[in-house]
Formats: sequence, structure tokens, C-alpha cells
Amino acid sequence: MKVSMIVAIGKQRQIGADNKMLWRISDEFQHFKKTTMGHTLLMGRKSFESIGKPLPGRNTIIITRDENYRADGCEVVHSVEEGIELAKKKGEDELFISGGGQIYELGLPYTEKLYLSIVDFNGDADIYFPEYKQYDWKLTHKEDHVSNLAWELQVLEKEARPV
Ligand SMILES: NC(=O)c1ccc[n+]([C@@H]2O[C@H](COP(=O)([O-])OP(=O)(O)OC[C@H]3O[C@@H](n4cnc5c(N)ncnc54)[C@H](OP(=O)(O)O)[C@@H]3O)[C@@H](O)[C@H]2O)c1
Repeated sequence: MKVSMIVAIGKQRQIGADNKMLWRISDEFQHFKKTTMGHTLLMGRKSFESIGKPLPGRNTIIITRDENYRADGCEVVHSVEEGIELAKKKGEDELFISGGGQIYELGLPYTEKLYLSIVDFNGDADIYFPEYKQYDWKLTHKEDHVSNLAWELQVLEKEARPV
């Protein structure tokens, strides 16, 4: 199973404020939908509550420290590692770590493929994406989009570290 991550970031790696997204860009949303459809999403409890329901056509695994947490139509785990193992056990071929800030931070070391939308946004945020350039990535795909906000899709694959 491939461990992927999908995110939309601003120019300073902003990803959210007040537990909400910072923009609405319909073709970026379509890209998220098309890329993740039929797969499993692994997300933090706050991101899940910000969306409010499982996204149709995808399996949702929520990460929380709360042992009693339940959400209809979703599975609940208590670590990123447990989420990865659960998706693997269920036969998933590509898992998408899909936020938010805390879970991106925890999931980045496991991420093999990063679907990164870089949005032309310079405003404020209270949640940021981690410094992903701490890893070496190979750019395998790039697309420019012009919408209500311009955004660029970069697909990055982690370079294997020499042992
Ligand atoms: N731009 C994008 O692509 C994008 C994508 C997704 C989300 N977002 C944004 O990101 C923001 C939310 O991010 P966030 O960082 O506040 O929250 P988050 O990562 O979505 O969720 C945080 C929660 O995850 C659980 N958690 C964290 N570390 C854990 C650990 N080690 N073990 C077990 N559970 C753990 C905790 O849940 P409990 O408190 O229940 O224990 C914690 O409160 C929102 O603004 C959202 O809109 C943006």
C-alpha cells in the first residue's frame, strides 16, 4: 500500500483558520475528489468535524486520543501508525493522509507521495503545513490552474534515503 498525503497550502504553507479552510476553489476541490475517490482518507478529529460527515465514495479513518469517540460511517484510531495498519489490513492500495496540521506533521515521515496544491494566497492562518522540504522529493507531475485563485498542482515522490 502506498501512503500518500493530499493538501492545499498557501504561499507561506497556510492551511486553515478557525478550523475552516482558507479558500473555496472549485477545480481544486474537484482535483481532491477525483484523486481520493474510492480510497481511504486518514484525518484528524478536528478536520473531520470541520467537514462534518464522511465524504461519499471514500472510507474515512479518524485519529483522536478519545477512546470513546464514534462517528457514523467512519473508523476511529488513536495514532497515525494504527491508521496506516488498518487501511493496509482492509486491502487499501493508496491511503491519503488528508489533514489537518497535527496529522500532516505526524504523517509526513510515512508519506511516499505528496499531492500538493500551492494556492496563490498570502493571507493569515492559524494552522500551517509542516516544512516538507526537509525531505528530498522528485517532482513527477505539475499543472497550472487559473480559477478564482491561481493554484499549482505538484505531485512529489519522496526520494529514498541512502542507507
Ligand atoms: N488546506 C488543506 O488542504 C486542509 C486539509 C485538512 C484540514 N485543513 C485545516 O486544518 C485545520 C485543522 O487542523 P488541526 O491541526 O487543528 O487539527 P487536525 O490535525 O485535523 O486534528 C487534530 C486532532 O487529532 C487528534 N490527534 C492529534 N495528534 C494525535 C496523536 N498523537 N494521537 C492521537 N490523536 C491525535 C486529536 O484529536 P482529539 O482532540 O479528539 O484527541 C487532535 O485534536 C482546519 O482549519 C482545517 O480546515 C486544511
